[in-house]
Amino acid sequence: MRLKNKLAVITAAASGMGRLGVVFFAREGATVAAIDINAEALAELAVEMKAKGSEIITIVADLSTEDGMRGSINEAADKLGGIDILWAHAGIPGPASVENLDMTEYQQAMTLNVTTAVLGAGEVAQHMRKRGGGSLIFTSSISGLVGSMFSPIYSACKFAVVGLGKSLALSFAADGIRVNVICPGLTETPMMEGFVGRGGEILNSAENKNKLLASVPLGRLGQPEEIALTALWLASDEASFVTGVALPVDGGYTCR
Ligand SMILES: NC(=O)c1ccc[n+]([C@@H]2O[C@H](COP(=O)([O-])OP(=O)(O)OC[C@H]3O[C@@H](n4cnc5c(N)ncnc54)[C@H](O)[C@@H]3O)[C@@H](O)[C@H]2O)c1
Repeated sequence: MRLKNKLAVITAAASGMGRLGVVFFAREGATVAAIDINAEALAELAVEMKAKGSEIITIVADLSTEDGMRGSINEAADKLGGIDILWAHAGIPGPASVENLDMTEYQQAMTLNVTTAVLGAGEVAQHMRKRGGGSLIFTSSISGLVGSMFSPIYSACKFAVVGLGKSLALSFAADGIRVNVICPGLTETPMMEGFVGRGGEILNSAENKNKLLASVPLGRLGQPEEIALTALWLASDEASFVTGVALPVDGGYTCR
């Protein structure tokens, strides 16, 4: 098993890629704490995992608050007995334009995309040091590597996450903590709906959908399991010499 005896935490774990991360991490032997604001979806996940033979810890928290982020990481450390792996996966699309900006929506995007990663790293480092090291994984986006015409604020946030990951890879290397960033392309999860309405209902016409798919060299959208399996690899000792990477998982989108 690839994560035997590992203690793992995943945020935004009740849906999409994070949810599959819980399934894959547990299947590979980790004890997993799943953090999310959606209590009902977390409870359903716990039942599904129990049916598969895995007990998971669920923590309901609003990660857009400082207490929610700091508190849930420390609660996870208490309940797990330490932390070896954190996949800090929370994020939201945020406002579509810098014009007529609603500052509350702007702050929410900055908070969930960037501040959660900062606070998560700040809280988890002490726990990983106690365990002799660890693997910290952030979720950025292709929009953290190239500009995004329809989501400039999201892109600014996700570039920040890449910068944070590369910097912390340097800061934490001496403690045996690897820090890596996953940059997914457009991936079929509920969140994708938040993006596809931008730029003219991209997926609502065959012509627009074909245009979108033509921008991906592999000619298709990503699947959440493809991102969760990347997180699994980065979390595992198979990636023991990998740190400071911002890894596109995007069907080749950022090659151009
Ligand atoms: N889906 C894509 O196309 C795509 C592409 C690139 C990057 N991403 C990134 O992936 C991450 C999540 O994406 P997903 O597609 O798995 O999303 P998703 O919509 O499937 O899941 C998001 C989860 O976040 C939780 N959440 C939302 N607000 C929260 C809060 N305040 N506190 C705690 N939990 C909260 C939701 O309850 C949900 O379970 C984000 O960081 C996003 O930027 C997504």
